[in-house]
Amino acid sequence: MSNAQDIIKKTEELLVATYNAQPVVMDHGDGVYAWDTDGKKYLDFAAGIAVASLGHNHPKLMETISTQAARMMTCQASYATQEKLKAAELLIDHSCFDLVYFSNSGTESVEACLKCARKWAYDEKGEDCNEIISFRSSFHGRTYGSASVTEKRHAQPFFGPYIPNVHFATFNDIDSVKELVSDKTAAIIIEPVQGEGGLTPADVAFLKALRALCDEENICLIFDEVQAGFGRLGTLHAYEAFGVEPDLAAWAKGMGSGFPVGAMAAKTKFGKAIVVGTHGTTYGGNPLACAVAACVMEEMLRDGFMENVNKVSKILFDGLAKIQRESNKITEIRGKGLMIGVDTAFEIKDVLRNLQANGLMATQAGKSTLRLTPPLILNEEQAEEALQIIDKTLKNMSE
Ligand SMILES: Cc1ncc(COP(=O)(O)O)c(C=O)c1O
Repeated sequence: MSNAQDIIKKTEELLVATYNAQPVVMDHGDGVYAWDTDGKKYLDFAAGIAVASLGHNHPKLMETISTQAARMMTCQASYATQEKLKAAELLIDHSCFDLVYFSNSGTESVEACLKCARKWAYDEKGEDCNEIISFRSSFHGRTYGSASVTEKRHAQPFFGPYIPNVHFATFNDIDSVKELVSDKTAAIIIEPVQGEGGLTPADVAFLKALRALCDEENICLIFDEVQAGFGRLGTLHAYEAFGVEPDLAAWAKGMGSGFPVGAMAAKTKFGKAIVVGTHGTTYGGNPLACAVAACVMEEMLRDGFMENVNKVSKILFDGLAKIQRESNKITEIRGKGLMIGVDTAFEIKDVLRNLQANGLMATQAGKSTLRLTPPLILNEEQAEEALQIIDKTLKNMSE
């Protein structure tokens, strides 16, 4: 048995079985590339599922982490630190929000949004106002609140009971939302681009109608930007790509480029519902995580960063459309920015296995969609390299 196979087997024996094991062992990364323990090089179009926004081994981020780790990694959450202030100022100065709450992951950011919205509704509209509207094919995380507003819960009855009074509307269908709205509706939560559901962007008109509905009915509008945020759509925040401001937003993934950090961002009216003693976290807002978040923000705010995202996104979308025209192997291309979904004529497991063998790592979304979420620092040549691998891989596959 090779060393890699040995590592995989022993790891599987020791870990709770949350994922199907990959056939190779990851070793290290640099920029948009990753290497396995056998020395094979991959273009990393998974990026930890839209996490490694600055790629691997980013020099400024590495320096920030080592300097801050030596200075101070943690202190009690009630202390202010220069790092926390800097990260909060950067987040607020470059968004439509007034307040921020730091967390450690996407699901925790979503939990904070749900609790904040429900507390606001309780105070403002009464204790019966606790209903939440979410969407079919949504994904918001795996802790109980997040799982309760994730449609997949219907396929996981063994975790029930979920939190009550959650209703599911149809994505991009405003009438289906209106049918569910009542004076008990506290919040509507939506991904501006559904990630796990299959890379489906919301229509601008739909999000605008949702905003208008929430204003009319005094409902809190939450955007889950965990996957679509932090540059992934070619704008710093996902809501900017649609021109619609939510009341609360959940952030994580690309915000730390691999370091676990997340946040809930809030307009004052909603964020002030959380008062001392109602919510909190041990690790959230620690100096190391905040130094990382500030560093990532500063890199994304550099001249040309978002232009690059938009440029390579166009290369990828155009190149995929060309592959689709020239063969009958691609059936649909969806997404926005560097959050790209490709439906093919083949089993997704086979597509991913063959891409991996040809040197490109990617992930699955929905039942059968190939998800491409490369680091945002991808350059033109690397985008062309990825297209060549995808073209070659699909050409060599037969139905
Ligand atoms: C839109 C969205 N929300 C929430 C989450 C949960 O994030 P985490 O896995 O960091 O808890 C994810 C993770 O994929 C996500 O895509």
